[in-house]
Amino acid sequence: MAYETLIVDIKDHIALIRLNRPEALNALNNQLLTELGAALAAADANEKVRAIVLTGSEKAFAAGADIKEMAEKSFVDMFDADVFGPEAEGIIRTRKPIIAAVSGYALGGGCELAMMCDFIIASDTAKFGQPEVNLGIVAGIGGTQRLTRFVGKSKAMDMHLTGRFMDAEEAERAGLVSRVVPAKKLIDTALEAAEKITEKSQVAVKVIKESVNRSYETTLREGLLFERRMFHMLFNSEDQKEGMAAYLEKREAQFRDR
Ligand code: CAA
Repeated sequence: MAYETLIVDIKDHIALIRLNRPEALNALNNQLLTELGAALAAADANEKVRAIVLTGSEKAFAAGADIKEMAEKSFVDMFDADVFGPEAEGIIRTRKPIIAAVSGYALGGGCELAMMCDFIIASDTAKFGQPEVNLGIVAGIGGTQRLTRFVGKSKAMDMHLTGRFMDAEEAERAGLVSRVVPAKKLIDTALEAAEKITEKSQVAVKVIKESVNRSYETTLREGLLFERRMFHMLFNSEDQKEGMAAYLEKREAQFRDR
């Protein structure tokens, strides 16, 4: 499928999805979010794809929801269309791992989009923020909930209430991003991380993604039970037998995703 706001490149089992609205710093308008939902669903359904990297430009991962598109809308317009509800659901329904490779601005909906991915690798130029307060609104794609879980109440309140930006170093210290690399190495580092994932048992990978995400959705007790049952269940997979046999025989495992 041809996209106008994305560039999708599938190579070596990895789908690299690049947000591409340079004239608006990749602001998330309706078209971009619809196309992103379609691209993620297509990558999820494509047997060749085993991991996804989502990125923007050097200047901006995404500078937020599109303010020009929203400015004149009423409450009823936003409510009736359930703006961002179905789009966010589509993104988090993706079962294959998504790595966000963030350079430059990740603000508002851009920061929220990065947080909906499975982990974030940032360039040293990345700037994260939830500046909705400057527009007289609140975050609408999970920022008050997810940022608080990532960085704790104090820093999340600070970011949302003052609208200040967090640089990459602070974001790493706070646990928002998994690693920071020089801007020039961002895409290669994200692709290398994705490649590592593609080499694993895709059964285990999907179970791990579901199990970690469960920690956001349920109590610790329920989450621990879910994890333990998943752990038990994987002993029914061929990949568990192969992975453990390969370890004991001191050779590389040959996973078959079964
Ligand atoms: N929506 C629409 N257009 C945007 C945009 C956005 N979120 N962010 C940037 N743009 C556009 C600018 O309007 C400008 O277009 P024009 O040339 O046509 O005016 C173009 O992108 C380049 O931007 P700037 O000239 O402003 O670039 P800069 O380098 O001077 O500043 C910036 C960069 C600090 C990111 C600044 O653009 C900015 O503050 N953007 C808005 C950030 C923001 O408030 N994001 C939150 C949006 S609301 C939201 O996301 C709600 C939610 O939770 C869902």
